[in-house]
Amino acid sequence: MARKIVVTSGKGGVGKTTVTCNLAVQLARRGLRVVVCDLDFGLNNVDVTLGVERLCMYDVVDAVEGRCRPKQALVRHPRFPTLYVLSSEKGGERYVSPQAVRLVLDSFAPLFDFVLIDSPAGIDEGFHRAAACAEEAILVTTPHISALRDADKVAGILKNYRFASVQLVVNAVRKDFARKGEILLPEELASALKVPLLGAIPEEDKLFLENIVVRSRPFRQLAERVLSPKRK
Ligand SMILES: Nc1ncnc2c1ncn2[C@@H]1O[C@H](COP(=O)(O)OP(=O)(O)OP(=O)(O)O)[C@@H](O)[C@H]1O
Ligand SMILES: [Mg+2]
Repeated sequence: MARKIVVTSGKGGVGKTTVTCNLAVQLARRGLRVVVCDLDFGLNNVDVTLGVERLCMYDVVDAVEGRCRPKQALVRHPRFPTLYVLSSEKGGERYVSPQAVRLVLDSFAPLFDFVLIDSPAGIDEGFHRAAACAEEAILVTTPHISALRDADKVAGILKNYRFASVQLVVNAVRKDFARKGEILLPEELASALKVPLLGAIPEEDKLFLENIVVRSRPFRQLAERVLSPKRK
């Protein structure tokens, strides 16, 4: 049975999609079966980030509304054979209940090792829909004060979900700023938020050209920590 992990944040643009997709690639490179589910309705970009947008025939709403079987909505990644994508509804106008999406995602659980769920920013309906489908959560923040306040709010809400684990990823860390004390260190952020630190990802220039950094050591380490038994 798959581990179902939602990747969430308070503030937008802090790197949820980047973390979800890169973590998925690193897990799939180890031969693990991973499905990335894009539940960011309307502002979805998992398919683009993973470079499979031309291959997507159906999306999650097609599966929910019965236009295809859940498995038919999955796209297999051409480069990583154990990596699949469930793309999101493009319009973002339809109401889709958390229970209906959960049923679709639950049907994947026996087929995969990981169901990774990319969530929209904020704490609205879309966030709750994504959270309702998961059993674990990864909270992504950047080391900036503005992101910290929103992350704190989300950390509080995640507690109500009684997840098996909630862990923090601090993204876009600039070592030069950290050394000068201009940003909080990942460990300081984790203790301020009272959320255990899963990992820190540096700000990388390469990401602007190519969102998937296959040889990225930080994402590889992140995958190792997700797999490490004491953190389950
Ligand atoms: N570690 C990083 N170094 C450099 N650029 C990054 C890093 N992480 C993310 N980015 C860039 O920041 C932008 C936002 O990232 P991303 O789309 O992953 O954030 P998000 O939290 O999913 O946003 P949204 O809330 O809109 O869904 C992207 O252009 C991405 O390439
Ligand atoms: Mg995103």
